[in-house]
Amino acid sequence: MSIKGSVNPPGDKSISHRAGLFSLLATGTCRVSNFSPCADCASTLEAVSRLGGRVERQGEEVVLHGAAGKLVSAAVDCGNSGTTMRLLMGLLAGRPGSFTLDGDASLRRRPMSRVADPLMRMGAQVSTTDGRPPVTIEGAALNGQRHELAVASAQLKSALLLAGLQAQGETVVIEPHLSRDHTERLLTAMGADIAPADEGGWRVRPSALVLPPSLRVPGDVSAAAFMLVGAIITPGSEVTTLGVGLNPGRVGLISVLQRMGAKLTVTEEGRDPEPWGKVSAAYTPELKATEVLPQEIPLLVDEVPILALAATQAQGVTVMRSINELRIKESDRIAAIVTQLGALGARLWEEGEDLFIEGPAPLKPQGRYDSYGDHRIAMTLAIAGVLCGQTLEVADAACAGVSYPDFYRDLEALQQ
Ligand code: S3P
Repeated sequence: MSIKGSVNPPGDKSISHRAGLFSLLATGTCRVSNFSPCADCASTLEAVSRLGGRVERQGEEVVLHGAAGKLVSAAVDCGNSGTTMRLLMGLLAGRPGSFTLDGDASLRRRPMSRVADPLMRMGAQVSTTDGRPPVTIEGAALNGQRHELAVASAQLKSALLLAGLQAQGETVVIEPHLSRDHTERLLTAMGADIAPADEGGWRVRPSALVLPPSLRVPGDVSAAAFMLVGAIITPGSEVTTLGVGLNPGRVGLISVLQRMGAKLTVTEEGRDPEPWGKVSAAYTPELKATEVLPQEIPLLVDEVPILALAATQAQGVTVMRSINELRIKESDRIAAIVTQLGALGARLWEEGEDLFIEGPAPLKPQGRYDSYGDHRIAMTLAIAGVLCGQTLEVADAACAGVSYPDFYRDLEALQQ
């Protein structure tokens, strides 16, 4: 069963979250087209409304009316969305009011002290439940700080930059490796006093934000990734993903697949609001194993499961270095990859913080598989099914809607 044709992946989840959330601090009105239809971004829009923002749907567009920082105290359900919760922690820390942030069972297992601790050093009043949600915030006066992060995390970086916008003096955030910079780009476009810091990283000062009148969200390259890898590993396949975001902090999978010899071409077609274009991939019978270095991981952090599937079909041992962050995503993704791809016949193992995958290995479905309620594991297993020529039985496969509601429909349309 090959996959052939073209697909428009949904609007980028990270950019959609940021447009929605930043409207809480900004003045003006923004017409957003191609806003992500996913469940996570619905959690963000619901949070924005509860906190006093105004969101309107006009046909295909989402219209955001800036709340100019005048927020109302509220209890917010962030659903499954770590981005909603972590960015809100930084955004709310400096606003007058009392706020509670909670989420589903998966989100309640995820660490929040990595955000709460540096915020508290800025004077924030944040409390967690043993380091996890629910999180409560009493808005307080903040002081700018210099933060040197132990992990490269765009969510953590963004939370601190958002707090810095409201803090006295200057806030500097330095990461061990670069992560996606959607926050820095959008805040710059909204008129924030933000710039690269002399010492590396970013610095921000208190600023007034103005929404751009319109914003077109590019397609989500993390959603496109599943179709692209499906094409590369399945004989006879050729897929083009259209209108996809090509932010350098998001295209690590593309570089790594090209290094593995994949037939994959990228054509940039525009740069507003970020680089975007089309990405085409075709079946590549002779994929080669590779070593993925620690500094590459943040650039493909959400693509590790689907890259692991690609590596099962490559000649040699692929190593992904320092992937510990994967343990604290929507599921323990390392455990999920090792058990589920292992049950399909892949040869893969973990050693310390590294993941090893030896290929090529024929995959053969037997029995039932588990998504662990994690959208990226569910979609990886669906692509494994394409490779095996049969639909796998996967528990909670519908959780794909957390990031890609039309995933199964789009995949079916590509199937020959
Ligand atoms: C995101 C950042 C990443 C990523 C998540 C979305 C963002 O998390 O895994 O899906 O929008 O900032 P970390 O930066 O915390 O690794």
